[in-house]
Amino acid sequence: MELYTPEVLISEEEIALRINALGKAITNDFEDEELVVICVLKGAFMFCSDLIKKINRPIKLEFISLSSYGDNTLSSGSVRLEMDITGNIEGKNVLIIEDIVDSGLTIKTLMEIMSVRRPKTVRLASLLYKPAKLKHSVKIDYLGFEIEDKFVIGYGLDYAGRYRELPYIGVLNAGH
Ligand code: IMP
Repeated sequence: MELYTPEVLISEEEIALRINALGKAITNDFEDEELVVICVLKGAFMFCSDLIKKINRPIKLEFISLSSYGDNTLSSGSVRLEMDITGNIEGKNVLIIEDIVDSGLTIKTLMEIMSVRRPKTVRLASLLYKPAKLKHSVKIDYLGFEIEDKFVIGYGLDYAGRYRELPYIGVLNAGH
């Protein structure tokens, strides 16, 4: 198989520094309260894993899986709930951890699913935000990086299931 090294957009070091700052902000905002962290699979797994290590509060970890992209770099326009959380979030402080907000449809749909379950609070941490494609208003409480309208991969994000293992965020160039 051909070896391809994508161009680095955000380095491992920059990601680690930003995650430290986000962890501190979340720790301060939640004082002594327990948090239900919902990791949005698959893209947020690496960000979630590193971020929760920097949150100095009791955490219950849940996983959810939604899909809108299939194997393309363009959103299909509809979101499917592929796997739900197992715990009850009624009356709880919920922190959703997402990899990227692009059109905003995935997060808008997820917020709707969660709000009918009557949590005490719901906040969103997103590693990346691409304002160029935003169609649905989304409030990101804890943002890693705002990026240009480029298809990015690595640090959990994929193209057709590949590149999630890269320790940095890279840009996928034409032809790859
Ligand atoms: P949205 O619903 O359009 O906001 O898209 C959110 C989802 O699309 C993310 O959770 C990602 O899985 C995927 N996505 C959007 N942009 C990218 C990208 O540049 N690289 C990889 N996945 C992306």
